[in-house]
Amino acid sequence: MSQAADVILLGAPGAGKGTQAKLLSQELGILHISTGDILRAAVAAGTPLGRSAQAYMDRGDLVPDEVIVGLVGDRLQEADCADGVLFDGFPRTLPQAEALTRVLAEQGRAEPKVLAIEVGEEELVRRLSGRRTCRTCAGIFSLEALSGATACPKCGGELYQRADDAAESVAQRLRVYAAQTAPLLDYYAARGALRRVEGQGAVDEIARVALAALGAQGAD
Ligand code: AP5
Repeated sequence: MSQAADVILLGAPGAGKGTQAKLLSQELGILHISTGDILRAAVAAGTPLGRSAQAYMDRGDLVPDEVIVGLVGDRLQEADCADGVLFDGFPRTLPQAEALTRVLAEQGRAEPKVLAIEVGEEELVRRLSGRRTCRTCAGIFSLEALSGATACPKCGGELYQRADDAAESVAQRLRVYAAQTAPLLDYYAARGALRRVEGQGAVDEIARVALAALGAQGAD
């Protein structure tokens, strides 16, 4: 199914944005852009962006707005963004949201649809402490789903625990979310763009409800 529209996934750390983004971008036929994945790749490659971002990320703080806005603005100029983008982890401050609104308007794109994935704090902490990520394909897994496997079930790559999933970083990320990202719910609600979905339950069922909330054809 192809649907040329931009979608923003909002949600606290561990809400399942990355997990859902992989499914929804495929179903909607639009490009998945995760600012977290871009930054982690830059850290792994030791680029100037990665070297400047790493300390912020490891302690659970946000990378400065001007860095992120420049990065996403440049990425949106590329041809593969023309048919729509699913933003995962961006925007996460009001200045980022305002910048994105401006850039999309300059490009003549429609208002994005915004999907907020809602999960309680106790469950967020539980999920983040048990997450494993693949170094090769960036696949996301829970320890339960891996049931003892030590390599990526999709590509056989090495699984690792993100540095920012340590308990102190998780606590800081949740504080940062409440202070800097949660206000975006009001920003997008005021623009009539916000849909909310319950993020606890089976992954496929959440994706089905999310597609219906986005008004995607064939969601049911
Ligand atoms: P980022 O990578 O965006 O991290 P995040 O927002 O903290 O979100 P997470 O990736 O931790 O969680 P998620 O919601 O994607 O959940 P997931 O699907 O993995 O950002 C990392 C850092 O980069 C930031 O802290 C910041 O420093 C920097 N950064 C990134 N973007 C930035 C920006 N725009 N501005 C400034 N700085 C920025 O799922 C979590 C776990 O739960 C997994 O184990 C998964 O298998 C499991 N799970 C998923 N769904 C379910 C379910 N339904 N039931 C049970 N388990 C589930």
